Amino acid sequence: STPIYILAIESSCDDTAAAVLENNRVLSNVVARQSIHEEYGGVVPELASRAHQQNIVPVIDVALKKAGISKEQLSAIAFTQGPGLMGSLLVGSSFAKSMALALNIPLIAVNHMHAHILAHFIEEEGYDKPEFPFLALTISGGHTQIVKVNSFFDMEIIGETTDDAVGEAFDKTAKILGLPYPGGPLIDKFAQEGNPRAYSFTKPKVDGLNFSFSGLKTQILYFIQKNSKENPNFIEENKNNICASIQNIIIQILMDKIKMAVQETGIKQIAIGGGVSANSGIRKTLKETENQYGWKTFIPKFEYTTDNAAMIGIVGYHKYLENHFSNAATVAKARIEF
Ligand code: KG4
Ligand code: ZN
Repeated sequence: STPIYILAIESSCDDTAAAVLENNRVLSNVVARQSIHEEYGGVVPELASRAHQQNIVPVIDVALKKAGISKEQLSAIAFTQGPGLMGSLLVGSSFAKSMALALNIPLIAVNHMHAHILAHFIEEEGYDKPEFPFLALTISGGHTQIVKVNSFFDMEIIGETTDDAVGEAFDKTAKILGLPYPGGPLIDKFAQEGNPRAYSFTKPKVDGLNFSFSGLKTQILYFIQKNSKENPNFIEENKNNICASIQNIIIQILMDKIKMAVQETGIKQIAIGGGVSANSGIRKTLKETENQYGWKTFIPKFEYTTDNAAMIGIVGYHKYLENHFSNAATVAKARIEF
């Protein structure tokens, strides 16, 4: 049968991304990262949407060129409908609509959080796909959720954060340590050289499968303030151990709740997704559970963990197969029902 070619566009936060898929295979996956936000210590929405405006045409051009596919060969256009920053979403969604209209091909709206989970269904050598039902832990700068995934489009959130996302916990504590945004990857890097048991922090008490990270941030702030008063070079002298200990408590918080979710659902297949799943400590700890508890774990290829358009494309492909199309009246949504 003739292959399905999907052009996917992702612009929910600060990365402008486009990908081309041939069925469930990725032909190209292009991301323009915005470094402008580094000096502000976080994403500035107004600057993000302006940068998307500048980047979107070149990023799509490069994605098509790298894939060796012409616009006329495309079967459909998939785009991120939400959740995300409204100004950022508007750039991608307006562009996707116009392009689908001009080419007279179907338009497919995709939920960014579904995409982080379904990224596991991209055909990649050396990567297995989970079987339904499985548990997904989506950990990003905006979300922390445990999702029971029954099928491609039947998912239930069974646990989520009551305040900060785990990515925010990484980024905000990194900021306390004087590290630039986004601090998650830097904490990861320093943690690899440090002792995770050098300092101990307490876990928050949160009911059921929910999470809380804002207390941890405050705890770390006081810890740093107290120690820096005694020794002004405290951070500099102990950076690796501090980062390893922060990362360790975050991993423990996540693992406690996943264990609880496995116990409650009886499901032992765990897939992780979202930017924080790039964390080497989380990956290592999760892998260890395969021997420890007999779980099967799924860790996406690095380029499909942080925001990317390939994951939007794989959802687009499965929606295409089910004739699940949108139309020009579809609007971007900053918050979106799961
Ligand atoms: O999924 P993502 O790219 O964007 C959102 O949808 O939020 O996730 C970005 C988040 C940031 O908070 C960043 O610090 C975190 O993922 N992150 C990491 C690592 N790489 C990215 N956190 C810890 N360790 C990492 N290696
Ligand atoms: Zn994301």
